[in-house]
Amino acid sequence: MSGFSAAWLALREPVDHRSRNAMLQTQVVNFLHQRAPVVPDLLHITDLGSGTGSNLRALAPHFGAMQCWTLVDYDADLLRAARSTLQSWADGVLDSGTPNVICEMKGFSGPVEPLIITKNMKTIAVRFRCADLLADYRSILNEPADLITAAAFFDLVAEAWLADFCAALTKPLYTVLTYDGKETWGPPNAYDAGVLRAFHAHQSTDKGFGTALGPRGAERLQSLLQGRGFATACAPSPWCMDHHDRTLIEQLAIGTASAAREMGMLENSAIDEWEQARRQASHCEIGHIDLFAYPA
Ligand SMILES: C[S@@+](CC[C@H](N)C(=O)[O-])C[C@H]1O[C@@H](n2cnc3c(N)ncnc32)[C@H](O)[C@@H]1O
Repeated sequence: MSGFSAAWLALREPVDHRSRNAMLQTQVVNFLHQRAPVVPDLLHITDLGSGTGSNLRALAPHFGAMQCWTLVDYDADLLRAARSTLQSWADGVLDSGTPNVICEMKGFSGPVEPLIITKNMKTIAVRFRCADLLADYRSILNEPADLITAAAFFDLVAEAWLADFCAALTKPLYTVLTYDGKETWGPPNAYDAGVLRAFHAHQSTDKGFGTALGPRGAERLQSLLQGRGFATACAPSPWCMDHHDRTLIEQLAIGTASAAREMGMLENSAIDEWEQARRQASHCEIGHIDLFAYPA
């Protein structure tokens, strides 16, 4: 269990999808169009910290007719939820016994049966790899892939891990929705600044990789990759929410208040008051950064 529930990931998925920076995404799609994939006519994508596969559902409609995805997560429950969520999302599910160009690819099958689905006239094969990226990122990065992706992942990692990851990366990387620390809640509340400070302190606690970079994740990733000779582009992808996103705003207020309480930097009564007000917030903007990088 990672602490990220399938229910929470499902709640944020529509907001995540509409918040992704469309211009940067087009740049990624055009970049891949202009390159020959590692296997002709078949795009390979490896998604790090995939959760239930939200990144695949956002990106696959923009890619070519034949795709192979490897979803990597250390939470086996989330990978099981990914399989069932993708089955419901698909237009059809192919029997893996059916002769199929993707299944016949050498090395495609793994310890877990791949899922092969069709969606919008595309054939998408999905492998599920249960692995801890703390230790296993090198072997994962070494597998054939045209693109490495991630969503809402790089704020969890630590500086030392990120430096080693960037040193091992030789492929294009497209990572979206890394939290950047900027938050605006409306109408303003007297405890906004104090709660945000406490929340940022919580963001820096160990999320499994050592002291987490939190809001500095995207900036450090860009700088480390530039230092390794990658061309990089960043673009904002804020969650902009209003009364239509009531449930997510409410859950966000609860989660932020709970994280702030753990840090003991503010009186609990102040956090309680903030939480009560914030559950009713009329609007809320949470900053994120998308990044695309490729070896120049
Ligand atoms: C915020 S969630 C994002 C999930 C998904 N990318 C999405 O956008 O819905 C972060 C994900 O990273 C995974 N994760 C965290 N630490 C990990 C690790 N050390 N190895 C593999 N996966 C990890 C979690 O299990 C979780 O699914």
